[in-house]
Amino acid sequence: MSEQVIIVGGGVIGLGIGFELVRRGTPTTIFERDRAGRATSYQAAGMLAPDAEIEFEELELYDFNRESLRRWPDFAERVEAASGKSVDYRDEGTLIVADDRDAAEALGRLYDFQQEQGLNVEWLTGEEAREIEPFVAPRLSAAVYAPSDHQVDNRRLVDALRTAFRTDGGTLHEDTPVEAVVPDANTPAVRTAGGERVTGDRVVVAAGVWSRDLDGWTPDTTPPVRPVKGQMIQMRRKRPFDLQHVVRGPEAYLAPKSDGRIVMGATSEEMGFDTTVTAGGLYDLLEGGWEVVPGIRDLPVDETWAGLRPASRDHAPLLGRTSAPGLVMATGHYRHGILLTPITAEEIARLVHTGETSDWLRPFSPQRFSEAKSSTPSA
Ligand code: FAD
Ligand code: GLY
Repeated sequence: MSEQVIIVGGGVIGLGIGFELVRRGTPTTIFERDRAGRATSYQAAGMLAPDAEIEFEELELYDFNRESLRRWPDFAERVEAASGKSVDYRDEGTLIVADDRDAAEALGRLYDFQQEQGLNVEWLTGEEAREIEPFVAPRLSAAVYAPSDHQVDNRRLVDALRTAFRTDGGTLHEDTPVEAVVPDANTPAVRTAGGERVTGDRVVVAAGVWSRDLDGWTPDTTPPVRPVKGQMIQMRRKRPFDLQHVVRGPEAYLAPKSDGRIVMGATSEEMGFDTTVTAGGLYDLLEGGWEVVPGIRDLPVDETWAGLRPASRDHAPLLGRTSAPGLVMATGHYRHGILLTPITAEEIARLVHTGETSDWLRPFSPQRFSEAKSSTPSA
């Protein structure tokens, strides 16, 4: 059992793990280079959408996503109770809509696959979709209703987690960048940019897309994460316009939050660490959003930004022990980091606390790429 845990990175993943550890009575310190919760976790849309985002080749990840969604209501309740703050968990469901014949065909294929997998989804005509959500476009040809795909307000979530972690006894050092990890089986450590060496019983690296930038990794242990840029536009609800469900069109999604924000996203671009908001990116989003919810035309825009999704080589997360002694990894959550917060936080906390890897974590071992390489017979 770990006596003292150090976490590098105070995003939703680092804060979530920290929260679950301090609840179990494990002294935990998070080092965050800026203010906790202000990087990718702040820039997301907050959708908890395993059914809408199911990919044909990613069934193992789907089960993991689904299990995390199942744990969300309890997790939200715990975080809210510990912090006294709402995370705005909303369960109205998601409408996936098609705006022309090609999109309807693609949606039909997705729906067939969802049905084969036994998902709780319903095929709707455009008219039926408008009965559920009156502000979707009158000319929509078809829709799939996914009532189990929910959402939270990710900005409120990180704020609540930050409070909950500290209220329950965690130590949070903000404005404190970690420069290096120092592997060691018994007393792994981190070295801060200020030159201080801090040891623990376990070090958890949860620095999102920046996890690979730390000194101290070897070529074999470096987290294989890369940034995938997503541009977003935030509008304000203005009556009579209203939206209750998450609406996903072929080119854009819209997630309405209870405080009146409507978050619309997102591009998906391989641009390294560039976070420029571009005219082309905004144009694509506005056009894609307007096609499916034309009423956004009159809404005030109050923010635009670009975030960086931490993507691994196979787009599944990197969770568990690394081959660097004493170092545990929790990153690579790509498009699903908010959805995957409860299961990541609980299962990594359990691993650190008991030393045992659960069946849930096994498929997502950070060592899977080097294991695959070493088991390939040489030519
Ligand atoms: P981060 O939130 O980036 O946290 C990492 C932290 O580590 C940061 O605070 C950073 O400052 C800190 N850090 C980095 N280096 C150091 C260092 N050397 N020392 C100390 N601290 C350091 N997911 C969903 O589930 N649903 C969605 O709807 C959704 N929408 C998205 C939309 C967009 C546009 C994007 C970009 C992502 C979206 N995601 C969504 C994905 C989700 O946001 C991420 O998977 C998740 O936020 C990753 O969390 P994290 O804690 O790993 O990373
Ligand atoms: N999951 C939504 C996104 O990554 O844009």
